[in-house]
Amino acid sequence: MAKTKGSLNLLKNKAKKEIDSAKDLKDLDLIYKTYLGDESELAQILRSLKDLSKKKKAKIGKEANELKNFLKIKFTEAAAALKEKAEKEKEMKEWFDITVPGKKAVSGHLHPITLVRRKTEEVFQSMGFSVIEGPEMEEEWYNFDALNIPKNHPARDLWDTFYLKNGLLLRTHTSPVQIRYMEKNQPPLRIIVPGRCFRHEATDFSHEINFYHVEGLMVGEGISVANFKAIIEEFFRKFFGKPMEIRFRPSYFPFVEPGFEIDMKWNNEWLEMMGAGMVHPNVFKNAGLPPHQINGGGWQGFAFGIGLERLAMIKYKVEDIRLFYGGDLKFLNQF
Ligand code: PHE
Repeated sequence: MAKTKGSLNLLKNKAKKEIDSAKDLKDLDLIYKTYLGDESELAQILRSLKDLSKKKKAKIGKEANELKNFLKIKFTEAAAALKEKAEKEKEMKEWFDITVPGKKAVSGHLHPITLVRRKTEEVFQSMGFSVIEGPEMEEEWYNFDALNIPKNHPARDLWDTFYLKNGLLLRTHTSPVQIRYMEKNQPPLRIIVPGRCFRHEATDFSHEINFYHVEGLMVGEGISVANFKAIIEEFFRKFFGKPMEIRFRPSYFPFVEPGFEIDMKWNNEWLEMMGAGMVHPNVFKNAGLPPHQINGGGWQGFAFGIGLERLAMIKYKVEDIRLFYGGDLKFLNQF
C-alpha cells in the first residue's frame, strides 16, 4: 500500500510528540524501536518502495528518507537532553552541604583523677623525678613493718585495711614502694609513685575506701627539709598556676622523723594537703641502705604522700570525694 505525503506527516507528528514526552533513555529507546526499528511503519514503507512505480518511488522515497533523517537527529538530540537531565538529577542527589556542622562522634574523655595524676607526673618529671609503680596487693612487711610500723603498733589502726585470703593485703598507701625501690636502686634518687590505695573505713564526703596517692621520695647526700620545701612550692606553683602559700605543721608518721603535715592557704583557709617528713633511719635500714651518720657517710632524704582526690577537689571545686567514684555522667561530663 503506497503511503501519501499526508500519512508520512501524521507519522512525523506522532513521533515528534512521543519523543518530546519521553521520560528517560529507556523510554526513548522504546519509542526509537517503534519509529525506526526493523518492524516500524517507516521501515516497511522503505522496504515496499521497490514495488512502486518509478515516479512514486522517487517521490515517496525522498520523503520517507527525509523523515528517517529527521527522526534520527531528533532522537540524538532527545537522548543528549535526557542524559544531561539524568546526570543533573544524580548530582543533586549526591550533593551535600559541606558547611553544615558535622555530627560529632561520641568519644570518652579522661577522668578528673587521671587529669590530675598526669599533671602531677608532668610537674615532677620536669624536676627530674621518675615515675615508678608498685603493687596494689602488698605484703604486710612492705605496707607496715618495713615502714617502722610493727605488728602491735597503734598506728596500724590508722591504716586499717582489707586482708586477703592469699596472705596479702590491699596497700593503704604508696609508701611501701619507698622500700621496694630502695632495695633495688642506690641513691641519689628522685621518684614519685602514683597509685591506688585502699582503707577499711566508713565513707563520707572526704573519705573513700579507695583513693589515689602520689608518693614522693628524694634521697641523696645531705638532702634536707629545705630541699623539700623548694620542691613542693615549685610543685604547687606549677600545678595551680601561681605561687601558693604553705606552712609546715608537726605531725607523726612512723616512717619519718621529723614528720609534718603540709597545709596550703586556699580562700583564706589552711587546707591540709599532704603528709611528709625526713625518711626515718629504720626505713633506710629495712631497705638495706646505711642512714646518715653524724660523723659522716650514709643517706638522708625526704618523703611525702599527696592525695590526688584532694588536689582534684581543690582544682575543680568538688565538695564530695564520693563523686569521683560514683560513675555519674552528669558529674563526669563536666571535665
Ligand atoms: N603514707 C602517708 C599516708 O598514708 C603519707 C606520707 C608519705 C607521710 C610519706 C609521710 C611521708 O598518709
